[in-house]
Amino acid sequence: MSRLTVGILFGGASSEYEVSLMSASSVLNHINREKYDIVMLGITKDGKWLRYRGEINDIKSGNWVNGNVTPAYVVPDRALHGIIEIGEDGTAKATKLDAVFPVMHGKNCEDGTLQGLFMVAGIPFVGCDTLSSAICMDKVVTHTVMDNAGITTAKWDYCTADVLDNFEPYAKTLAERFGYPMFVKPANAGSSVGVNKATNSTQLKAAIKIALQHDKKVVIEQAVVGQEVECAVLGNRNPVASVVGEIAPKAEFYDYDAKYISDTTDLFIPARIPEAVAEKVRETAVKAYRALFCTGLSRVDFFVRANGEVVFNEINTIPGFTHISMYPKLFEAYGIPYSELIDKLIELALERKFMI
Ligand SMILES: Nc1ncnc2c1ncn2[C@@H]1O[C@H](COP(=O)(O)OP(=O)(O)O)[C@@H](O)[C@H]1O
Ligand SMILES: [Mg+2]
Repeated sequence: MSRLTVGILFGGASSEYEVSLMSASSVLNHINREKYDIVMLGITKDGKWLRYRGEINDIKSGNWVNGNVTPAYVVPDRALHGIIEIGEDGTAKATKLDAVFPVMHGKNCEDGTLQGLFMVAGIPFVGCDTLSSAICMDKVVTHTVMDNAGITTAKWDYCTADVLDNFEPYAKTLAERFGYPMFVKPANAGSSVGVNKATNSTQLKAAIKIALQHDKKVVIEQAVVGQEVECAVLGNRNPVASVVGEIAPKAEFYDYDAKYISDTTDLFIPARIPEAVAEKVRETAVKAYRALFCTGLSRVDFFVRANGEVVFNEINTIPGFTHISMYPKLFEAYGIPYSELIDKLIELALERKFMI
């Protein structure tokens, strides 16, 4: 096959901008340069699009913005099939892209909006399409689809700011349904941003207010007691599930700090669960993946109760991709090394373009 030109997108107008810089640096360090010509495209936290030609090391630190950058945009015009770069003298230069890998997380990146741009432009891209990305980003919609597919989730409800006007009766209804503690999260966020545990109605109200800073919709769940496990899924029509991994946060829960800052979480690959339970996790991961119309990749996260019951927590259509992130590690354990995983993802992006 001739060399492909692949756009690697990083950053993004998202609360997970910094996480994307880490994920994308790792992808850039592992992608096979013999096979692909790479075009690096960074999007700043306030949404500026820039082609970057500097060192990969400066991406992680955030210094890339001050480096060798030129305004550049993915354009919707299918004839161009790529980006337009605007030079200092105002001249426009087009570069064709065979595929793009948006290594970006969260709002404006993983939620179908960006995917819509690639679909309009007719550019094959790694990951789920617009519909699936949007469904998976929104925990209310995801939970609704899971209920419909017969996949167990924690007992849940959602609310908007309206409940704050007459809060006590609402808190009472939830307490009767779930009991405390409860988990409160923005419907659309990620990386544990805005997620809090509440053990009484005062904390519940405070947690809802925090979550409302990130989204108009807030999900409230019964706290599940059990192990947290994750399963990576890869594929279009015939998705495969990886080895199951486990995260064991030493903190109260797997919050932003535990995920990216302090060294307070142990990872176990494979998860410390019986093989039959791991098989159930893999089956349920693929069932969820199909029910949510996923293609390309997703990481499906679960709780496993002491009795072996598997409870769906959430799905990430563009999971963390650093070399220590679960998704690549789980497929490495399955037998697909990191750089081959990137090859497969690009192949799946190209294949999907021709699927009806
Ligand atoms: N219902 C729940 N029961 C127990 N722990 C939970 C529950 N929901 C979330 N958590 C904890 O909070 C973390 C972040 O919640 P999650 O739904 O995964 O949001 P995010 O999309 O931000 O990762 C989880 O990894 C887990 O540690
Ligand atoms: Mg999570």
